[in-house]
Amino acid sequence: MRTAVYPGSFDPITNGHLDIIKRSSKVFDELVVGVLVNPQKKGLFDIEERVELIKKAVKDIPNVKVESFSGLLINFLRQKHAKVIVKGLRAVSDFEYEFQMSLMNSKLDPNIETVFMMASAGNSFLSSSSVKQVAMFGGCIQGLVPDSVMPAVINKIKNL
Ligand code: PNS
Repeated sequence: MRTAVYPGSFDPITNGHLDIIKRSSKVFDELVVGVLVNPQKKGLFDIEERVELIKKAVKDIPNVKVESFSGLLINFLRQKHAKVIVKGLRAVSDFEYEFQMSLMNSKLDPNIETVFMMASAGNSFLSSSSVKQVAMFGGCIQGLVPDSVMPAVINKIKNL
């Protein structure tokens, strides 16, 4: 069984993330979405909320699981018996950071490969931080995040 891990902060999941999840779930037998627990970075949503929002968005895709992880990504892969990391690439500007991370991960464990999937053209401008900014200043986030996530973002920002 070929298991891949799609890691990230997902604060919150966007339609760009969801597109990568849908497409890569067709390439692998099982896809585990790994939500990084990062104590140094306080996000808009806490980890349990992020996991729940992703679970709702992927509920109709049978071979996708959602879990949180802390520490090194390669250790999470080992736990999941996965050998592949899936990452989305939006633009050249993503390349340097992603290239560095993939080299570091293969240095830490040469058995692990990072596979890059290009973002769909319509999502190449999307990021969790831009979605948060738009919502923060009252802009419309319809079509930027899954429909099930939209009310959660609006409510969260209202109650800040
Ligand atoms: O959505 P993000 O914030 O770009 O995701 C970054 C993530 C979670 C993939 C990255 O920070 C990560 O893998 N963190 C775990 C720590 C780790 O394994 N570091 C070594 C590789 S540089």
